[in-house]
Amino acid sequence: MSKSVLLIIGGGIAAYKGLELIRLLKTRGIGVRVIMTKAAEEFVTPLSVASLSGEKVHSALFNLTDEVEMGHIELSRSADLVVVVPATADLIAKMASGLANDLASTTLLATDKKVLIAPAMNVRMWLHAATQRNIATLKSDSIHFIGPNEGDMACGEFGPGRMAEPVEILAAIEKLLSPSALPLKGRKILITAGPTREPIDPVRYISNYSSGKQGYAIAEAARDIGADVTLVSGPVSLAKPVGITVSNVQTADEMLKACDGIYDVVICAAAVADWKVTKPASHKIKKTKSGEVPVLSFIENPDILATLSKPGKSRAKLVVGFAAETENVIEYAKAKLTKKGCDLIVANDVSETSGVFGGDKNTVHIVNPKGVEDWPNLSKAEVARRLMTHIAGLLK
Ligand code: C5P
Repeated sequence: MSKSVLLIIGGGIAAYKGLELIRLLKTRGIGVRVIMTKAAEEFVTPLSVASLSGEKVHSALFNLTDEVEMGHIELSRSADLVVVVPATADLIAKMASGLANDLASTTLLATDKKVLIAPAMNVRMWLHAATQRNIATLKSDSIHFIGPNEGDMACGEFGPGRMAEPVEILAAIEKLLSPSALPLKGRKILITAGPTREPIDPVRYISNYSSGKQGYAIAEAARDIGADVTLVSGPVSLAKPVGITVSNVQTADEMLKACDGIYDVVICAAAVADWKVTKPASHKIKKTKSGEVPVLSFIENPDILATLSKPGKSRAKLVVGFAAETENVIEYAKAKLTKKGCDLIVANDVSETSGVFGGDKNTVHIVNPKGVEDWPNLSKAEVARRLMTHIAGLLK
């Protein structure tokens, strides 16, 4: 069955790219109905839009003829996907606060379909705290984004805010419309992320610098291609991802317990503390008058990755570990593959100069028994997407 898109054209200089997008959609056999905001009509004419789409253009909320022909609620629900091009700062703010004072915003509030937005605005408007707040809200509302890109802008400035190109938007649309974009549909995936905290006494603990960003990005990438994701997370300061079952834990023992279950894929991205204090004090350890310092004794924590890699009926089809090293990254990763019994190791350099801990970028090497694949320096989100595509390929 042919798919259709409801395209909302916002009022910005990038609105002209909406015309090219309509043309591209038509060449792919994708139906397109268009809503234009009042401001959009200042940039492109409804006549050009109607000629290209071959459909009447909708713009007014209170139009009796329109409501009789196709009510705005129906308009919001009849398409397979709603796409906003360009998503201006104003439209984004309206969406984030649930405003419905024109046809475009009312339709966006009334739709039960996926929504993809292509933001475009001046770099300062994009970076403004209010816009960033609104973006975070839309992301947690599961709105899909394409762009903005970084580049020269119509206003003469340079930076993020330039709208994605029509071909990029088309690719994002096709991905959202096509079920083959969900190669992990029906697959159960377990991901561990973040550090663990091992108590010394009720107020002190031992932990590490893991931010959980890479593990969370993997969980989101797995969700985005259809997986049923369980994320077992140590203490991190990241927002709970939407559409993912999250189990919050503190210690390695708690993490292992929360990993119980049957999964198709297990990805251990957590930085689990190797040791725990043998006997955490039940009261806060106090300084002594004589200045004695406490001596802590440690025992090993359970190795979650090794435990989940053990052969058996409940072992996942694919178990993936991470190797965070500060030297001899590949060599240690290969050894870890054998020692832990997992199928794949994602190796990365976490030395201080790499900026991986807490940062947004990562350079990883995919190590399996057959060899090593080196990936370039990528955002953690891109590493996550590639890793999930790689895993989906292995599961086929
Ligand atoms: O042994 P090492 O900590 O270097 O191994 C890293 C890999 O093992 C990661 O995938 C990490 O999540 C996992 N791991 C674990 N339980 C531990 C220690 C590490 O799952 N106790």
